[in-house]
Amino acid sequence: MPDAASLPPEGTPILKAFGVSKRFGGLTALDDVAISIDAGQIYGLIGPNGAGKTTFFNVITGLYTPDGGVFLLNGQAYSPSTVHRVAEAGIARTFQNIRLFAEMTALENVMVGRHVRTHGLHAGVIGAVLRTAAFKASEAAIKDHAMQLLQYVGIDRYAQSLARTLSYGDQRRLEIARALATEPVLLALDEPAAGMNATEKNGLRDLLRKIQADGKTILLIEHDVKLVMGLCDRVTVLDYGKVIAQGLPAAVQSDPAVVEAYLGTQAHA
Ligand SMILES: Nc1ncnc2c1ncn2[C@@H]1O[C@H](COP(=O)(O)OP(=O)(O)O)[C@@H](O)[C@H]1O
Ligand SMILES: [Mg+2]
Repeated sequence: MPDAASLPPEGTPILKAFGVSKRFGGLTALDDVAISIDAGQIYGLIGPNGAGKTTFFNVITGLYTPDGGVFLLNGQAYSPSTVHRVAEAGIARTFQNIRLFAEMTALENVMVGRHVRTHGLHAGVIGAVLRTAAFKASEAAIKDHAMQLLQYVGIDRYAQSLARTLSYGDQRRLEIARALATEPVLLALDEPAAGMNATEKNGLRDLLRKIQADGKTILLIEHDVKLVMGLCDRVTVLDYGKVIAQGLPAAVQSDPAVVEAYLGTQAHA
């Protein structure tokens, strides 16, 4: 479904970030974080609660202004200053706490993502007012594409249902469809399996593998260690805002610092 022709070849860096720091008052939420994600990877970002994972997402997507950091997206330097520019630059994300338009249909939610891509927000508003023939034609194309994305994530049967009526797992799928509608080079998912049962998690794993097979690059924050280790090509572990381990999942999993900081505490939980 993603347009393979426009995607960078595997192995080229998609996101590189160096020296990323973010402070909230006296608290250092990110401390000199560096990460490098290659095209085609599923890249895991893990660590205990409060480690700084969501803050990192908020920084790279322009929700938080970092106190330091150099950012390269698809080979281009970018400063993640506004959310809209980040979407244009090619990062789309989902949220730890689902953020859908609850009173809009599933289809409309995906169409919104597509609008950002096709018109930018202003052209969309002007077109809606004038209701030009060109606008109507592109509106139909947007609808078609949104429908295809609902099919792609497996929830097209709910196209006309209000987002708030979908199950938790399906709402997470809908958020992924909306993010894909912007045709991102990097899809950033903040705990997409949170609140899912085992069956839903298996379905999510299959969906993420399919998105990867279609050439997308994924950055995944996830608490379920089994899911992360089975899915990710590379993993970075944060603890108190610092990178404490980085590399292949198996190596990271047996790293004593990681066992102590994260896996150990989980095993005791
Ligand atoms: N907007 C904010 N204002 C103040 N502190 C924040 C804010 N966002 C995050 N933090 C703090 O930064 C730290 C990292 O939080 P977060 O990135 O949400 O962790 P994670 O996603 O790894 O659980 C936590 O101590 C959290 O309380
Ligand atoms: Mg978080």
